[in-house]
Amino acid sequence: MKIRTKFSLQACNSFNIPAITAEILFPASLSELSELSDEKVSQSYILGEGTNTLFCQPDAPIIIKPNLMGIEVTETEKSFHVSAACAENWHEFVKFCISSGIYGLENLALIPGSVGAAPVQNIGAYGVEVSDFIERVSWYDFSKHKLVEFSQAECQFGYRNSLFKQTLSGKGIITHVHFKFPKLWQPVASYQGLNDMGLAVTPSKIMAKVIELRQSKLPDPKHLPNAGSFFKNPVISRQTFKTMQQQYDTMPFYQQQNGDIKLAAGWLIEQTGLKGFRLKGVGVHEKQALVIVNYASNCGLDIVELSQLIQSKVMEKFGINLEPEVRFIGYPSVGCES
Ligand code: EPU
Repeated sequence: MKIRTKFSLQACNSFNIPAITAEILFPASLSELSELSDEKVSQSYILGEGTNTLFCQPDAPIIIKPNLMGIEVTETEKSFHVSAACAENWHEFVKFCISSGIYGLENLALIPGSVGAAPVQNIGAYGVEVSDFIERVSWYDFSKHKLVEFSQAECQFGYRNSLFKQTLSGKGIITHVHFKFPKLWQPVASYQGLNDMGLAVTPSKIMAKVIELRQSKLPDPKHLPNAGSFFKNPVISRQTFKTMQQQYDTMPFYQQQNGDIKLAAGWLIEQTGLKGFRLKGVGVHEKQALVIVNYASNCGLDIVELSQLIQSKVMEKFGINLEPEVRFIGYPSVGCES
């Protein structure tokens, strides 16, 4: 197995924060996964492409970065079945599917990250969640040293949530994601910005439009380091919502199936006046307040500090707690050296 020591993780996290790990391991097959000792695993953090990870200290834990690659396609009369290994890049995978005539993931184009990370937080955008197309997930269990299969129902998918993010966090690795795409394609084009394509709508056109929408609002981490949405959109009770709506009648909201209401965290943050605000080299993005951008900081704690300021301002104004979508590694800590 490929192993590196004293390895810089700056290029392995989309906030571009410098952090050094004593050791990083790149298991590229099931047999290499089985070589990982229990002791090593217990001290490690599993990293995909680092698009949802914030290193809060200059010293990072031991890193396991799975490197399994490969895509397999089979078909039945009504469906395509696609199995993709965890280290495949998500956007390249989406492009592969669409160019192969396999449709469904077009709304999820350009989401940064890897295939293996997609089910963990059930990535979603423009009316589609990855769980809509997941049939099974193969997961390597560190304690049992074997592969376990989870059906879609067993994965306990929710909004930016799954079994892998909760109970199974840190206990194993998603090795493969198995998708099922009906051959009878149903466009999801009701989201504002996608709903003007009429009958001429095609998967490629939706994908192109999604790319255009994302590029117009969301900063490219290669040029402006960020992790996409920093917080989850909060879900509140109908009763709390009704009270808020009397005061804020233009507030965007999304009705949930169980009667609860999801609010737009970006809108809440913008109302506090923090859109575009900068502190210690990090800032609230000027076009999308849900995104925190690293302009010039070398310290993850600067991002934590800004995120806590955002949380306290939103709490003060609306009484709502924003929960980070980004994972903090090594927090709390004493601080970064300047
Ligand atoms: N809004 C503002 N000000 C802002 C940002 C947003 O008023 O600064 C308003 C918008 O005008 C709109 C509403 O808030 O009425 C929602 O905004 P948007 O459509 O941009 O979506 P979002 O709720 O901010 C979510 C996902 C994104 C995903 C988009 C599109 C979460 C946490 N984020 O963002 O996912 O791309 O919907 O479906 O659910 C990500 O997770 O990293 C991510 C980018």
